[in-house]
Amino acid sequence: MTDEIIGNNLIELDITDSTNEYSKKLIKESEVEEGTVILADFQTKGKGQKDGYWESEKGKNLTFSIILYPNFLDIQKQFYLSMSISIGIVEFLAHLSVNSKIKWPNDIYINNKKVAGFLIENSIKRNIIASSIVGIGINVNQEEFKSSAPNPTSLCLELNKTFDIKNTYKLLIAYINKWIKLLYNSHYKKIKSRYKKYLFLINKKTCFSDINGKFDGRIIDVEESGILLIKTDSKKVRKYNFKEVSFPC
Ligand code: BTN
Repeated sequence: MTDEIIGNNLIELDITDSTNEYSKKLIKESEVEEGTVILADFQTKGKGQKDGYWESEKGKNLTFSIILYPNFLDIQKQFYLSMSISIGIVEFLAHLSVNSKIKWPNDIYINNKKVAGFLIENSIKRNIIASSIVGIGINVNQEEFKSSAPNPTSLCLELNKTFDIKNTYKLLIAYINKWIKLLYNSHYKKIKSRYKKYLFLINKKTCFSDINGKFDGRIIDVEESGILLIKTDSKKVRKYNFKEVSFPC
């Protein structure tokens, strides 16, 4: 027996369209154990945020999805899942001596470059999260990126060495498990404060861009639903949902 939530059941695939899509089909067709991981060597249609494409060379990186049923979490609190995942990734990178930050809402940055991203797809039933597919992509050994994704980097590019993918996976899962366990045990305060500690550009004067144009301000907080709070230079607090604001401009 293990007291880990994630990874007790691992499904390894050579090739699939997208591990998120594979996971969705799987939970529709059968009962799938909580914490099951679908790990793929290659995705033909890796999904990124904003309907984008996730580029990942065969066998070089980590591309996987985790199936969770966080039905204790009401939808107003759903961003705690995202916070827990991003903290796990940042602390996994710290274990490898890489300093990284969480760029709201779903990116992990090393300096100004993106090393990882995740895409959480929730299925909501009666105000609770019935199931959640957490798709994670970490650039590990890839050295060249062809797509138009802005500023990609990888562990290999940052540290000048290659990594064993399976060992890297195990280490990452250990860190994600740590933070998911804290979430499942309701350690909301700890999660929130750690998240803010790792948040990219928090309290730093930054240029933002929304539908009305550019403005200067500072990120001051993220609500538990995921709304980003920005204080403008004129001391007004603006609230943004996903995709409504971009930064830095
Ligand atoms: C982003 O655009 O930053 C989110 C990227 C998420 C990519 C991962 S790779 C594994 C999982 N399967 C997918 O199709 N997408 C996610």
